[in-house]
Amino acid sequence: MAQANQGDLEIVPSQFLGFLKDLHSKYKSVQEGAVANYIPELAKVNPDLFSICVVTVDGQLYEVGDYEQLFTIQSMSKVFAYGLALEDHGRDYILTRVGVEPTGDAFNAIILDEQSKRPYNPMVNAGAIATTSLIKGSGATERLNRMLDMFRRYIGHDVFVDISVFTSERSTGHRNRAMAHLMFNFGMIDQNIEEALDLYFQQCAVMVNCRDLAVMAATLANRGTNPITGEQAVDSHYIKDILSVMYTCGMYNFAGEWAYKVGIPAKSGICGGIFAVVPHQMGIAVFSPLLDARGNSVRGVKVCEELSQHLALHLF
Ligand code: DON
Repeated sequence: MAQANQGDLEIVPSQFLGFLKDLHSKYKSVQEGAVANYIPELAKVNPDLFSICVVTVDGQLYEVGDYEQLFTIQSMSKVFAYGLALEDHGRDYILTRVGVEPTGDAFNAIILDEQSKRPYNPMVNAGAIATTSLIKGSGATERLNRMLDMFRRYIGHDVFVDISVFTSERSTGHRNRAMAHLMFNFGMIDQNIEEALDLYFQQCAVMVNCRDLAVMAATLANRGTNPITGEQAVDSHYIKDILSVMYTCGMYNFAGEWAYKVGIPAKSGICGGIFAVVPHQMGIAVFSPLLDARGNSVRGVKVCEELSQHLALHLF
């Protein structure tokens, strides 16, 4: 596919699917990396699974590989939970509880800002747990239902929690539990700690496929309106908050290199998914469970680098 210039990008439908198919076969043979195994249930995933999906803001859908394979959304859920917390409390209040500063540390680092005692940002585990603890509801069930309904708006159909992944993480997630207690100590979480953790583990265990992820990404690209259903998933007022933290913090301690090379907001998860947002143009999703040392999908990073180059997606 010919190089384009950002701003006048045009996908030629007949050629674009072929381009994605070529990308898929080019990177299918890459066998570097390892599947996540610190949550026992996740270690069971087939490492060969691989899919790429693109959804444009005018609702065109391009998909190759295992795009209907379900997996748990994991850390990619943090983006959407952040949007819901912003809607629930507004920007000023959320900023008092969770910062917007990249850490350069691993996603599960037990670290809070020295001065404010806030977690650094909503994309690392500590910040995500604090964010999720702020989701409104009269009890655990209502909070979970509000979360699930939020995912439904982004995706366009009902979603479910994978109970075995949820219980697997709940019974082994002592590091996250330690962070939650630390934040409770500093007043950054004031809800029941176990309830907040349960909701966080549940949001991470929501089942999606690669197509769902691309639709979610396209919804963010389309200022919060799902391009397939037309439903508003999140207040457009908060799109800039969401995309800014994705851009600076979404790929963890690879965020700087990602911003430099790929140049669009993105988020990864230890399930092997990555989704990226090209504002006003498209959502991109890749799923391949083999991860690098920083927890990002090896094939996912390579595919996004090449897509960005070929379509001139870099924002600058
Ligand atoms: O909190 C955890 O460890 C997982 N539920 C999610 C982590 C994750 O996806 C980090 N991503 N790279």
